[in-house]
Amino acid sequence: MNIAVLGAQWGDEGKGKIVDLLTPNFEIVARYQGGHNAGHTVYANGRKFVLRLLPSGILHAGVTCVIGNGVVIDPQALFAEIDEVAAAGIEIGDRLIISDKAHLILPYHRELDLLSEARRGERKIGTTSRGIGPAYEDKIARRGVRVGDLANMEALASAVQHNVAARNRIIPESTMDADNVLADLKKAWARMGPWVKDVSLFLSEARQQNRAIMFEGAQGTLLDIDHGTYPYVTSSNATIGGVCTGLGVPPRAIDGVLGVAKAYTTRVGEGTLPTELTGEMGNRLRESGQEFGAVTGRPRRCGWYDAVAVRYAVRVNGLDALALTKLDVLDGLPELSVCTAYRCNGTTLTEMPGDQAQLAACEPVYETLPGWTEPTAGVKSFEDLPSEARAYVARLEEITGVPAAVVSTGSAREDTIIRKDSIAAKWFRR
Ligand code: IMP
Repeated sequence: MNIAVLGAQWGDEGKGKIVDLLTPNFEIVARYQGGHNAGHTVYANGRKFVLRLLPSGILHAGVTCVIGNGVVIDPQALFAEIDEVAAAGIEIGDRLIISDKAHLILPYHRELDLLSEARRGERKIGTTSRGIGPAYEDKIARRGVRVGDLANMEALASAVQHNVAARNRIIPESTMDADNVLADLKKAWARMGPWVKDVSLFLSEARQQNRAIMFEGAQGTLLDIDHGTYPYVTSSNATIGGVCTGLGVPPRAIDGVLGVAKAYTTRVGEGTLPTELTGEMGNRLRESGQEFGAVTGRPRRCGWYDAVAVRYAVRVNGLDALALTKLDVLDGLPELSVCTAYRCNGTTLTEMPGDQAQLAACEPVYETLPGWTEPTAGVKSFEDLPSEARAYVARLEEITGVPAAVVSTGSAREDTIIRKDSIAAKWFRR
């Protein structure tokens, strides 16, 4: 049984915790897109880890972690993360597999990310400044450098010299030296080489041996380059199709899809957020939800649950179920609003418009539900939730059309409700 776990909103849904919880049931965890723009927060061994590139399964002994061809890798960021995990006493050894076809983020990509944002001015995306977009640009323009290229220093030298010279012409006052870049890449290969493999072949053999695989998404559906709120998106396919293209596995390899969504909505960076709350309520959600970027520390924009957006994620990804996270952040609020449709230029839309100008002109149509006074924080069984919290979850299930198989009530592993009668219960069976 292989499943995909991915974000059903604008990222930061709490995927790290859910993947970590599921991991004991899987032998392999594979990342298929994104890079160190992701920040998957996991609490384990009594401490907090923010995993950026390494799949969240790395914290579990015996689990093999795969970085697919769809991921873009900054070698220095990867090594820093490996060192951090190793310093916490977690052995990586041969548990890591990196695709030879994954593209590298090189120093000029970071410079170009900053430059492009500065030049866009008012129209800036609000990127994480990690060089993600420019690295994917080079991939699509067929001039990128792939992990496997590091094995052939001669061919690599000519490509890097060409790329650095071209970038030095674009980046004002840049004096980037191709030899320095190459020297770093040589060192990177010496360290990374033993982990590099044909990932598609590895996963195909793993499937033949019936080894259970979890496909781990980064960012979220509404940040997908094709299906998200373009152009305010990341540069990869965070939706289900990314699993196949980003790892070289066929669609039939995916037996189930679990979407992760917060019990409210957040977004970091620019772009429309239809249910955004800018006043006191927005601050209240940000403070109680600790909504500050795991990677950049930026305050996240907060708003009510947008069921139109999540319903869209259900459709695009074929979600079987949702893991609803951070329910406890809503504790103590007298009333909760849920966006069930958008009102746009006099028409009511029940589907997410693809055009950003149209989305920006939309007003959310809200349904109001009663809040709860008893805390849900740390509650471990659905029956123990206050009746209003159960009704809230039930209403979200009704509007989005998928069951909330998991409800998370705190950051610790234990603060989780796994619904016994749900379709996803077997995914969590130990
Ligand atoms: P980039 O991925 O750095 O190019 O940023 C593009 C957009 O995606 C920006 O709005 C970022 O804030 C957003 N973004 C990228 N990665 C994440 C993430 O892991 N969580 C939430 N937002 C993200």
